[in-house]
Formats: sequence, C-alpha cells, structure tokens
Amino acid sequence: MATSDNLKLLKQGAEAKLFTGDYFGRPCLIKERFKKTYRHPILDKSLTSQRTKNEVRSMVKCRMLGIETPTVLFVDLEQSRIYMDYLAEAITVRDYIYKVQGDKDMIVKLSPLAKSIGNTLGKMHLNNIIHGDLTTSNMLLKKPFEDLKLVMIDFGLSFIDNSQTEEDKGVDLYVLERALLSTHPNTEALFDVIIQGYKEENQQGAAEVIKKYEEVRMRGRKRTMVG
Ligand SMILES: Nc1ncnc2c1ncn2[C@@H]1O[C@H](COP(=O)(O)OP(=O)(O)OP(=O)(O)O)[C@@H](O)[C@H]1O
Ligand SMILES: [Mg+2]
Repeated sequence: MATSDNLKLLKQGAEAKLFTGDYFGRPCLIKERFKKTYRHPILDKSLTSQRTKNEVRSMVKCRMLGIETPTVLFVDLEQSRIYMDYLAEAITVRDYIYKVQGDKDMIVKLSPLAKSIGNTLGKMHLNNIIHGDLTTSNMLLKKPFEDLKLVMIDFGLSFIDNSQTEEDKGVDLYVLERALLSTHPNTEALFDVIIQGYKEENQQGAAEVIKKYEEVRMRGRKRTMVG
C-alpha cells in the first residue's frame, strides 16, 4: 500500500534512515530500519522486526501513561517503517544543553530540565519500560522550550518487562550518566538533579534501582582502571 509520497531523506542514523513525508496528507516522519549486510539475513530480519515492534510498543505505552512520544500513525513491518508525527520545531535536549553550556549559571539554568528528565524516567521505570539507549539526542524539547515539554524518542532498544528489572533500570541510569557526561562536560551536578526527579516519581522502586546503578558504575570504573 502506498501510504506516503514525497519521501525526503532527513537523517541517516546508525541503523535507520529518517525521512519526512506525509501519511494521507498529514506531514510525518518515517523511520526505516535498513538491512545490515554483515548480519545473517534471517537474523537481521528478525532483529529489525523486533526493534520496530519494541519501538512502537514502548511509544504507545508511554503515551498511555502521559509520557510524551511522537504519535505513531502507521507501522509497516514489511518495510520496517514507523510513520510518526514529525516534530519539526522541537530540538534535542543535547542542542538545548549546548546553548547554555559554558554559562556560569549553567547548572541553575538546566536544573528544571534535569528534574523533568528524572521525573519522566522515574515514571517510565515505575511502569517497567526500560529505554535501552538514554542519551540527550533521544529526548526532544517542544517549543516553547521554557515549558520543558519533553518528548522521548528512539525506543528501538527498549523493552517492557514486568519481572524483576532493577538491574536493567540501573543500567538505563548508568547509560544516561555516561552519555550526559561524555557529551556535556561539567554536568555531574545535573545528574544528581535527574536522580532527585527520578526518586519523586518512582518512590517505591528508586532505592533498589539506585543501588543497582551504583554497582554497575563500580564495575564500569574497575574495568576502566584495569583496561
Ligand atoms: N518524530 C520526530 N520529530 C522530529 N525529529 C525527530 C523525530 N524522531 C527523530 N528525530 C530526530 O532524528 C534524530 C535521530 O532519530 P532516532 O534517534 O530515532 O534515530 P536513530 O536511527 O536511532 O538515530 P541515532 O543512531 O542517531 O540514534 C533524533 O535525535 C532527532 O533529532
Ligand atoms: Mg537516536
């Protein structure tokens, strides 16, 4: 079924191409996962399809919880495509941080955003959604940016697991800390604010998850000291 015309390549990521186009006249973004020729074709097909499904599942579940993600308009598993709303005016949290980075009151300026990120993650984890790739490029901010309306994206490595997932949640936090500090120097204090926000929304689970996060962090550090 030809659902969209006017595909224009917007970005080429590590495993997907992003196009803008339209879905029955509605402007949209199309995320298409492409073939990885170094993977066995059957394995590749199965991985691609799993990631597409995971992405859609988590996006929809987030929205049901009141966590913003782009509206999913259509899924084409045959072509590994997700059609979703295109937030043309949004910017990544990464670019937002870059704008104030270096200001002497940077931490004060960015604290409300960090709190909001923590709140969002706390809520996701409370509902057993693990993102799997938490970076500042995988969070968008809608206009007006001061409203701090976060939109979470890039759920291809996410999963929903209702069993004991403290370790996975701890890893999620660790990945975010690494991503934050490596992309934005001198933001240690912001990660602390993220954790505060996290605790607010995930009061029952936070202590256990943070314990796991600290363990994962220690292991990471040992590895760096040895290697
Ligand atoms: N619905 C959307 N509206 C506006 N911009 C978007 C949308 N989805 C993604 N983007 C932009 O495209 C970038 C890449 O999207 P995404 O992370 O989903 O793809 P990816 O293939 O996993 O890319 P990467 O390998 O860079 O992580 C985002 O960082 C964001 O700037
Ligand atoms: Mg991404």
